[in-house]
Amino acid sequence: MKERRFPDSFLWGGATSAHQYEGGITDGTRGLSVPDMMSGGSRTEPRYITDTILPECYYPSHQAVDFYHRYKEDIALYGEMGFKVFRMSINWARLFPTGEEQSPSKDGIEFYHNVFAECKKYQIEPLVTLSHYEMPYALAKKYKGWSSRKVIPIFLHYCETVFREYREEVRYWLTFNELNILLMGVYGNINGGGILPPGEKVAVGTAVKVDESWDDPQLRYQAVHHQLLASAEAVKMAHRINPQNQVGCMLLGRVAYPYTCKPEDALKAQEVMRKANYYCGDVQVRGSYPSFSKRLWREEGVQIEVTEEDEKILKEGTVDFVSFSYYSSTTATNDPNVPIASGNMMRGPGNPYLKTSQWGWTIDPEGLRWYMNELYDRYQKPLFIVENGLGAEDKLEKDGKIHDDYRIDYMWKHICAMMDAIEDGVEVMGYTVWGCTDLVSASTGEMQKRYGMIYVDKNNDGTGSLDRYRKDSFYWYQEVIRTSAANILNDGE
Ligand code: BG6
Repeated sequence: MKERRFPDSFLWGGATSAHQYEGGITDGTRGLSVPDMMSGGSRTEPRYITDTILPECYYPSHQAVDFYHRYKEDIALYGEMGFKVFRMSINWARLFPTGEEQSPSKDGIEFYHNVFAECKKYQIEPLVTLSHYEMPYALAKKYKGWSSRKVIPIFLHYCETVFREYREEVRYWLTFNELNILLMGVYGNINGGGILPPGEKVAVGTAVKVDESWDDPQLRYQAVHHQLLASAEAVKMAHRINPQNQVGCMLLGRVAYPYTCKPEDALKAQEVMRKANYYCGDVQVRGSYPSFSKRLWREEGVQIEVTEEDEKILKEGTVDFVSFSYYSSTTATNDPNVPIASGNMMRGPGNPYLKTSQWGWTIDPEGLRWYMNELYDRYQKPLFIVENGLGAEDKLEKDGKIHDDYRIDYMWKHICAMMDAIEDGVEVMGYTVWGCTDLVSASTGEMQKRYGMIYVDKNNDGTGSLDRYRKDSFYWYQEVIRTSAANILNDGE
């Protein structure tokens, strides 16, 4: 029997975002971005967004896990694991502190040059997200975030700066992280849209109940439209500046199965899949809003102005590949008596057939295969899984080891599911494990929820040496990359 393995060109690696990883908030001329205003939380404690930096609050993004000062050490570890690609984001406010400066900060520009040079040493390709929830706070305040069209040219000025500056260093780009998160409630308003809640201090963590009364669908849908336009313009610009550039969209992978086999539940699941995935995906990949949009706008009570010029921009700025995050799946039903599963960021009912993580996220490798087939059937563009992983508590043993067999088990099953999808005929560019080095959780703002293959000695309250340790999964993933996963795919044959 033929040995199963991933193609040699497959891009194995890990993924991070600046606000969860980089820190260095007081270094250079960096401005504040939206997540810098969010306090730490936990599985049970809310995190807050504050209007100014309050001395009594702890803000985890300010130091994060200090990639800013430790990038050489971290990238060397990625080289040791055999990474072919490293997903990271540029912090917009590190280059343009308020967003509206004409020239970028020199120190910010230089920092990312240094990071890319370090990647090159180990033949690691950077995969750069232009905006991973990192709008400068000043812009969010002044314009109500992306709900204003005025932000588009400001963003494009930032894009042009980085496309020109890093022309020789970066080939793979993503425009907005999880653009579709804006269609999923208040957390999406703030992180995805830079639309801030009213008040001095507002609970925003997804792990606890948050106040949704300030949510305004009109602003959210407007913000999505503006991001879609900005994304399309950025794709065109990237191609113009360097025809070698490959630019992808990035979707929050939302799998929704019907909760029961009642036709009504099947329809509900279809509705969730459409709104959560295809509304944004269709625009970014096919270049126009899907046919169900008009009904969706009507039902949500929103009016979106799409001009002829907008239609042209969307048509011309379609992406080269489709990237997405995938962690878990949900279900959908129109029965109001079925409770929403707790701790579930995507707010769907639970699934009695699946186990969940310590944070209540279902573990569903088959869902990854299913979703990849759905996306590929619809778009016929190469896929890139740019986030996948297990958020879990880890224990640092006295001898400096971390035995994270649960994480290995999770990754093993998801990599096998990905191979199955490839054998189904799906074209896949690569796979980057989320939070390859432990970093701050985006939803809860804590350190305890760890995804990494590299442990960082840092606690929820900000204490810790920041020292790095290789987990068992580090060595496991190193072997997966070395053998193109032949070691796990042909097990026992
Ligand atoms: C994705 C985000 O939604 O999920 C990441 O792009 C985030 O920024 C990841 O960290 C995992 O979520 P969390 O809340 O466990 O950090």
